[in-house]
Amino acid sequence: MTMSDSRPIGIFDSGVGGTSIWKEITSLMPYESTIYLADSLHAPYGSKSPEEIRALCQKNTDYLLSLGAKIIVVACNTATTNAIGHLRATYEVPIIGIEPAIKPAAAQSENKAIGILATKGTLNSQLFADTSERFTRDMDLIEVEGKGLVPMIENGDIHSEKMVALLRDFMKPMIAAKIDYLVLGCSHYPYLIPLLKKILPASVKIIDSGLAVARQTKAVLQASGLRTKATTLGEHHMYTNLETTTTLELLVGNHMPNTSFESKSF
Ligand code: DGL
Repeated sequence: MTMSDSRPIGIFDSGVGGTSIWKEITSLMPYESTIYLADSLHAPYGSKSPEEIRALCQKNTDYLLSLGAKIIVVACNTATTNAIGHLRATYEVPIIGIEPAIKPAAAQSENKAIGILATKGTLNSQLFADTSERFTRDMDLIEVEGKGLVPMIENGDIHSEKMVALLRDFMKPMIAAKIDYLVLGCSHYPYLIPLLKKILPASVKIIDSGLAVARQTKAVLQASGLRTKATTLGEHHMYTNLETTTTLELLVGNHMPNTSFESKSF
């Protein structure tokens, strides 16, 4: 028996950055509906303790489930690396996470030198330690904390002079180590790709995990009989717990029709 499930895909992030993942998901599955939570009131997660991050993830998941989500996508590396096990142990719905794309970068690096730009919370997590130990044992892994980037992106700052200066500084050790892959280990950072491309040598490839997460979400929905059979475009509700939806609207633009933006408390 084939089933059809028109309930929305629930997606959350510590703020607006996970919209980079939302874009991949909605492009890959345009007939699915979504609800996106930007927990910007509590951003950044990266400087919080694992216990605090787990509590925030649980709050977001509870809210998405109360709105009828059929699957939860944790569109935040910091939340995934600190709380995915806890979420999977707590809830019955499928939970999809995002992790820095260390494995493909390591597999393809010819220079045997890759860089990762991520939050402190991700770089300090056990899951990240395990992944890097497993895949980068025979190469240089240059870890740089993107200190200050998330709050700036939350304010819609993705190309100021201050941002350029900060990124130039962060990229210095990467360029010195002759990396050929830069892994973006935070879902906010894909919005910085245009600037990073100007700063890094043209030979450096920049990778993030957005498309991989969208593909994994699709595969899990399929395998669980949770895909919609609709043949009209989905509806998308983007919620923030700030008073203004400005940055959310700025970053999402008109990527998908039927998209609404609203401030809510959660
Ligand atoms: N988008 C989140 C991530 O992928 C940002 C984390 C934070 O809020 O510090 O890690």
